[in-house]
Amino acid sequence: MEGKFEGVFRINGKLATKSFAPGTRAYGEKAVREGKDEFRLWDPYRSKLSAAILRGLRQMPIKGGSKVLYLGAASGTTASHVSDIVGAKGLTYCVEFAPRSMRDLLPVCEARKNMLPILADARMPEEYAAYIKGKVDVIYEDVADPAQAGIMLANASAFLRKGGMAMMAIKSQSIDVSAKPERTYEKVVSELAGAFEILERIELSPFDKDHLFLLMRFKGE
Ligand SMILES: C[S@@+](CC[C@H](N)C(=O)[O-])C[C@H]1O[C@@H](n2cnc3c(N)ncnc32)[C@H](O)[C@@H]1O
Repeated sequence: MEGKFEGVFRINGKLATKSFAPGTRAYGEKAVREGKDEFRLWDPYRSKLSAAILRGLRQMPIKGGSKVLYLGAASGTTASHVSDIVGAKGLTYCVEFAPRSMRDLLPVCEARKNMLPILADARMPEEYAAYIKGKVDVIYEDVADPAQAGIMLANASAFLRKGGMAMMAIKSQSIDVSAKPERTYEKVVSELAGAFEILERIELSPFDKDHLFLLMRFKGE
């Protein structure tokens, strides 16, 4: 049952997290009861964090009690698993700018008191600074936006503690459809390298085509 990381389990070979909101579902995922606990299977084809773990992520900075700033929360698929992992002592700030996705995210946050929905543009951290109390331990970014690196840098400088960690999925097709993915990855990594130590680089195929997942440590100001 216990997996490689705190709060991440294996059930019949599949990844799962222990539900923080038993009896509710975030995206039609399967749930499994084990005694008094409920576990939700974590689909690597729906969640890049699940894919990154299966593709060999070596360090997992999101743990029980972590404060996480999640950029591009969409309807809460991955964010709900982050909520399971951080548990009652942690918090996940969920930034999403599409009203349609926010509509689906709200009931997920309603069922989970450790998820805070924020309807805002991640390119403008000053617009939601008032909602974020103190610094966060981890920024998770999955925005599929051409300005991905700039969004990470702006949010890290505003909200990430020194030595804090960042996880980011780079979708090469969202940045430059005509360039080779490797060239696009290098460009994004070189923009981030001044502010972050790049610890891990994971290609997400076969779960996601042309996506690179980064784990980074913030050097601080
Ligand atoms: C690939 S989806 C995220 C999927 C989600 N991370 C998951 O695994 O459940 C990208 C999301 O980022 C949002 N997004 C893109 N640019 C954004 C921005 N500048 N600010 C906030 N959200 C943004 C999109 O609306 C979309 O919902």
